[in-house]
Amino acid sequence: MVALASEWNNEAYVSLHLVQEILRLAGLPSKSGYSHWVPEFKVKVPRFNVNNQIEETTQEVDFLIEDIGRCLNFLVEVKTANTRIDDDARIQLEKYLKYSSTRFGVLIDPYLVEVHEYNNWQVKLICQCNIESPLNPQPVANFLRNFLDTIRMRTISVHTSKGGVGKTTLVTNIAYELAKQGNRVLVIDLDDQANASLSLGVNKANELDKASSLDEFERILDSFKERKEVVEFLKDYDLPGFNYKEYIHCSYLNQLLDNIGCHGRVDVLPSSYKTNDAALANLIGIREKRLDKALRQSGLAGDYDYAIIDTPPSATTIASNGLYASQYVLIPSQMEYLSVYGIRTPLKRAREVLDEMSGKRGIILGIVPMMTENVKLHNTIKQLVSKTFQGIPILPEVKRTISVGQASDVRQPLSLFAEQNKGAGSVAKQFTALTQEIVSRINQIESTMGL
Ligand SMILES: Nc1ncnc2c1ncn2[C@@H]1O[C@H](COP(=O)(O)OP(=O)(O)OP(=O)(O)O)[C@@H](O)[C@H]1O
Ligand SMILES: [Mg+2]
Repeated sequence: MVALASEWNNEAYVSLHLVQEILRLAGLPSKSGYSHWVPEFKVKVPRFNVNNQIEETTQEVDFLIEDIGRCLNFLVEVKTANTRIDDDARIQLEKYLKYSSTRFGVLIDPYLVEVHEYNNWQVKLICQCNIESPLNPQPVANFLRNFLDTIRMRTISVHTSKGGVGKTTLVTNIAYELAKQGNRVLVIDLDDQANASLSLGVNKANELDKASSLDEFERILDSFKERKEVVEFLKDYDLPGFNYKEYIHCSYLNQLLDNIGCHGRVDVLPSSYKTNDAALANLIGIREKRLDKALRQSGLAGDYDYAIIDTPPSATTIASNGLYASQYVLIPSQMEYLSVYGIRTPLKRAREVLDEMSGKRGIILGIVPMMTENVKLHNTIKQLVSKTFQGIPILPEVKRTISVGQASDVRQPLSLFAEQNKGAGSVAKQFTALTQEIVSRINQIESTMGL
C-alpha cells in the first residue's frame, strides 16, 4: 500500500479532495436542480443508556446525497488514511442507515470505497472498490456511477385532467407489458377511486362484486381503514423505522408471471377512499413533493425498474405528488374536440414541473390517442393535435374495441385476456407496441442526457 502525504489523515481534506471529486465525477454535482449534498445530515442515532434504555443522540453523518435523477438518496461517511474504514466505522454507518431508514450507505477512505445496503433490518456490504491513488478519483467515480445505475428506477405517470379517457387502462396494461419483459414494476395508485388497485387484485374486488347491500359494501371498504397504503406511505416515510415493504402489495399477476418463468412482477402501492388531500393537511413542509422524497428516501428504487403512477383526474395536491415524482409523463386523450382541449392543462403543469426540477421530472413522453376509431373526425383531430402541440410526440394509438371493456370487466390486462380471447389480440398488440415505443423513447432521452 502506498504511503500518502499527511494531509490524507485529515477528514476535511479527504472530504474535499477525494469524496467531493468522486461525487462530481460520478455525475452528482453538489448543487444542481437534480442532485445535491446535504453535508452534516443530522441523524439521531439511538444508543443504550446506563439503564439499558434506548435514547437518542444527535450524531452527524458526513453527507446525505439526494440523487433526484435516479430516485435515490444515500449516506456517505468519510474516513482517513490513519483512521481507515474498520468495524467501528461499519457499525456506525449501520446505525445511521437504520435510524434514518436510508437504503444505501457508502464508506470512503483514501484507499477503499465500500457500499453497504440496509434491507430487511440488516446491513450488508454489497460491493467495494480499491482506490489505486486518491489523486486519481476517476476509476472509483466510474465504480460508483455503475453501482448507482444498477439501482435506478424509472418513474412514469399517466396524467390528464379529464376523467374516463383511459388512464387506468394504460397504467395496468403498460405495467403488465413491462413485467412480461422481465421488469419489476410498482404501480402507485393515487386515485381515490382505486381502479388500478381493484384491477390488480389488491382491493377485494371479488368481495365487493358479491356485496349484496350498501352496508356490506361499506364494511368491506372499512377493512382498509387499518391497512397501510399510499396515503400512509406519504405520511410516514420520514418517520424512524419506516419500512416501505409494509405498504406494498403483490398483484395477482405475479403468480401468473412466475408460472411462465418470467422474473418480472407487478406490485401495488394501493389506494382507497382514504387517498385525499385532507389526509395530508397537518403535515409540515411541501406537501406536493412527498411522493418524490418518499420514493428516494425509502430506498425502494433498488427493488423496482419502473414505477407507474395512476393519477386522479382532479387538480389535487395528491395529483401534484404524482407529477413531482415522475421523470416521465404520458398524457392520454380521446380524439374528440372536448378531450383535446383537456390536454392543455396537464401539458402546462408538466412543463412547470420540468422547469422547476431542471428537467429531471415532468418530461412529456407524448400524447397517447385513446379509444380511436377509423372515422374522419378522429383523423382530423389527430392532425389538429400534432399542429397545436408541436414538438410533443403522438405515441402509438389504442383503438376503441369492445375487448378493452371485456378485459376490464374481468380485471385482466389485454395481453393476458387475449390468450383466451383471440379477438382481443390486435388491441393487445397495440399495448405491446405502445410500451415498446415508451421504452425506446426513454432510452433515447437518457442516452442524450448522459444518464
Ligand atoms: N380502447 C378502449 N376501447 C374501449 N373502451 C375503453 C378503451 N380504453 C378504455 N376503455 C374504457 O373506458 C372506461 C374508462 O377507462 P379508464 O378507467 O381507464 O379511464 P380513466 O381515465 O382512468 O378514468 P378516471 O378518470 O375515472 O380515473 C373504462 O370502462 C375502460 O374499460
Ligand atoms: Mg382511472
